Amino acid sequence: MTYSDTIGVMDSGVGGLTVLSELVKVLPSAKYIYLGDTANLPYGCKTKEEILFFNRNILNFFLTLGVKDIAIACNTTSALTYEDLREEFSPKGLRIFPLIQSAAYSATLGLNDGDCICVLSTLATAKSGKYASEINKINPNLKVVEIPCPNFVEIVENRLYDLDESKKIVREKMKIILENKAKRVILGCTHYPYLLDMFSLYLPREIFFNPAGSLAKNICSFIKNTNDVGDIDFYVTGDPCEFKKSAKLFFDIKKEVKSVKMPTFSRV
Ligand code: DGL
Repeated sequence: MTYSDTIGVMDSGVGGLTVLSELVKVLPSAKYIYLGDTANLPYGCKTKEEILFFNRNILNFFLTLGVKDIAIACNTTSALTYEDLREEFSPKGLRIFPLIQSAAYSATLGLNDGDCICVLSTLATAKSGKYASEINKINPNLKVVEIPCPNFVEIVENRLYDLDESKKIVREKMKIILENKAKRVILGCTHYPYLLDMFSLYLPREIFFNPAGSLAKNICSFIKNTNDVGDIDFYVTGDPCEFKKSAKLFFDIKKEVKSVKMPTFSRV
């Protein structure tokens, strides 16, 4: 198989599958390679230096396979390291599509000056202020409240939906949204669509905005559908069985999930 016409999709774990499922809807004929960096998750509580190290390994992995187009199906990467990655890897022939930057405009549609947008995200994304800066470039009169949700990725990756502690953590974050009278809530981490059933106990589903659709549309304006039959290969840096189990809500993966080893981060 030649991978030059393949789209590489990357995330720390099963979160990016929520983006892959949108991509498959609009580009069903494409070939995809999905890489979940499960040995290194969660990214959201790591430093930029660590995240950049993980991201570089993944992009080098895609380069080795000859993949040319990369969907960054991770908000934390889009927020912290996208610009560095683009600078380093564009000259090597990679075309990189980020999430937040692709979605900011659509996220503001239909809102009026003074309206509040809440953004649920990892700690690192919230700290970066990337959603607020991208949204306020489009409309400086929107109020953006970034809400860090450090435990949500763990709930999804370990399938802890039924624990009282998980329900309590979700309830607390939903309370912040209600207090702010938000008109829109951005699912600012690709793991969070897995939690929508829990969120919608407190808020109507229509209030939630999933940036994945905007990234898929952005990619679609560069890559066209053909008559080919699409295909997806899955790779993880951690345990393939756990990945399959946690992925279930978005992909019932029947084929083998391959394991790939990446260099280990060490601070020198
Ligand atoms: N799903 C990723 C994101 O959108 C990363 C979550 C994590 O590993 O903390 O930010």
